[in-house]
Amino acid sequence: MGKPKVVLGVGGGIAAYKACELLRRLTESGHDVRAVPTASALHFVGAATWSALSGHPVSTEVWDDVHEVPHVRIGQQADLVVVAPATADLLAKAAHGLADDLLTNTLLTARCPVVFAPAMHTEMWEHPATRENVATLRRRGAIVVEPAVGRLTGVDTGKGRLPEAAEIFEVCRRALARGAAAPDLAGRRVVISAGGTREPLDPVRYLGNRSSGKQGYALARTAAARGARVTLVEANTGIPDPAGVDVVHVGTAVQLREAVLKAAADADAVVMAAAVADFRPAAYAPGKIKKRDGVEAPEITLVRNPDILAEISAERARPGQVVVGFAAETDEVLANGRDKLRRKGCDLLVVNEVGERRTFGAEENEAVVLSSDGTETPVPHGPKEALADTVWDLVAARLPA
Ligand code: C5P
Repeated sequence: MGKPKVVLGVGGGIAAYKACELLRRLTESGHDVRAVPTASALHFVGAATWSALSGHPVSTEVWDDVHEVPHVRIGQQADLVVVAPATADLLAKAAHGLADDLLTNTLLTARCPVVFAPAMHTEMWEHPATRENVATLRRRGAIVVEPAVGRLTGVDTGKGRLPEAAEIFEVCRRALARGAAAPDLAGRRVVISAGGTREPLDPVRYLGNRSSGKQGYALARTAAARGARVTLVEANTGIPDPAGVDVVHVGTAVQLREAVLKAAADADAVVMAAAVADFRPAAYAPGKIKKRDGVEAPEITLVRNPDILAEISAERARPGQVVVGFAAETDEVLANGRDKLRRKGCDLLVVNEVGERRTFGAEENEAVVLSSDGTETPVPHGPKEALADTVWDLVAARLPA
């Protein structure tokens, strides 16, 4: 088998320079990459760069090497097409099936997974025309990566930055791994909570837990790569926002509940991977609690936090919404898991054994996924992405058509 063939479409935006790094990553990891810039992309990065980095000739129009019928062949032979940066103009052309240059022809002839990584000014990204074009492309199964928030071309900042090459590369790698099959979560909306809540005692102290959030981020990345629109409600992880994902940052259990319920209103699936504090201090001291000579240590009264998983499971904002919980157990792992699945009322519960050095903060995980229909799916020790993909397989099988 030859190297997987990747077409890197490059739109005319200043972020074209970042596509060089993406090209580099793709070729160095064993892909045969053909760069297809638009004519305007060449204003930013010249043909010599694309040609030298890819090892292939570069043309923008369908009139070069006509005997090879490049406007059909390049798309037909591709295992993946990734457009980075995708300008508002390119998204519009792709959504409407225009084909006035080599890249847009290629997009019409490709039958492989297609990834768009848009980059533009916030106003252009938020314009209803662009919103509708993105929705059309997603409905057809294309993966449209959510732009990052940050510094734009001029002095302005906002949503519209091209995500880092490493992030786009990861989306490409996963899309390639899934092959020609349409992304199975295309058109679905999912909500994932990740991290651990912190319940403040005073302005400097909190009750927290050891959750790193890595499993929740793996769930978010894999869902985005499988075509879902993802809202990630993140508590105290410090992990950079993943590409293709809308991230809501929260601190406490009460804030997490509010953000998850809001996003769950129109979600097909909700996965509660966050470690939510069961209790919070009954009172918050507005000034730092002081130790004083001769005075006993203060007693802290706790109150119960709402159980978000149980609430979402009971209320189901949409018919057929699939709800997934996580349970970290230290003993009687499976028995406690089965009991928890019943009590919480969710459809799936990912149960894993935890301890001082197990799971928390690690790159790998090992679990059993319990289902309300009585089935059990063991997931052997492996990357958190593998467990995430198993969760999405089980969720996808339960989603209404
Ligand atoms: O009851 P326990 O904390 O073991 O349950 C863990 C599961 O319940 C996780 O999915 C967690 O996100 C969720 N949870 C919740 N609200 C709480 C506590 C836990 O949604 N207050």
